[in-house]
Amino acid sequence: MDIDSPRFLQTISTLVLILVSVSSLASTSLKVGFYTSTCPSAEEIVRSVVNKGIYENHGIAVGLIRLHFHDCFIRGCEGFVLLASTPGNPIAERDHFSNNPSLRGFEEAKIQLEAACPRTVSCADILAFAARDSALKVGGINYNVTSGRRDGRVSIADEGLSADEMVTLSGAHSIGVSHCSTFPKRLYSFNDTFKQDPSMDSFYAETLMTKCPAPPATSDPTLSLDPSTLVR
Ligand SMILES: *[C@@H]1O[C@H](CO)[C@@H](O)[C@H](O)[C@H]1NC(C)=O
Ligand SMILES: *[C@@H]1O[C@H](CO)[C@@H](O)[C@H](O)[C@H]1NC(C)=O
Repeated sequence: MDIDSPRFLQTISTLVLILVSVSSLASTSLKVGFYTSTCPSAEEIVRSVVNKGIYENHGIAVGLIRLHFHDCFIRGCEGFVLLASTPGNPIAERDHFSNNPSLRGFEEAKIQLEAACPRTVSCADILAFAARDSALKVGGINYNVTSGRRDGRVSIADEGLSADEMVTLSGAHSIGVSHCSTFPKRLYSFNDTFKQDPSMDSFYAETLMTKCPAPPATSDPTLSLDPSTLVR
């Protein structure tokens, strides 16, 4: 999930500095079963594609949860993650390095839904359903997803989530892995006073150091984002 990436930290700082302007689109009323009459099989289609994808590759589940997380990272969950960067807006969500690999899991669901109900189900809702279906499949966590999101037309990297939303979504990042290369500074070169980030649990830091080589490293292993979560 690259929680320790410079981009992530930069975004956090931006969030602290700029109090988030919540898009008016986000306040349109959402409800469970929004597509019951317009596309009754919507959630079923997403679920079957997600289950098939996860059966073939467990990593898809992680990718889909991450995709929803990153989609919600800018202006709320509005499908922005699927918007491409433009010359005037160079770092839209779709082109953020950590999003790209996850898009593959989304595409099949989108194709099938367009065939069943053209231009009906928003990308943001597909992402929200797919994240829920992934959590159910790999973690046994089920919840009803309210839908009726409209896809946004703009994705601007300076906008973000509220502190509450940020904490909630960060906490949901408990499955999947991160490359050692996203956090070497916290283990080996924190600042002039501390080699190791003093805010880290020292036992955990020592454990990480046995797995992540000190820079300049020749390998870049992956570690579980949350060592207490069994699904990787
Ligand atoms: C979802 O909503 C339905 C209808 O209100 C309810 O019967 C069901 O228990 C809910 N499921 C979950 C996982 O909350
Ligand atoms: C190093 O980091 C610690 C903890 O964040 C901080 O208290 C300290 O002032 C920093 N030292 C330097 C030299 O930046």
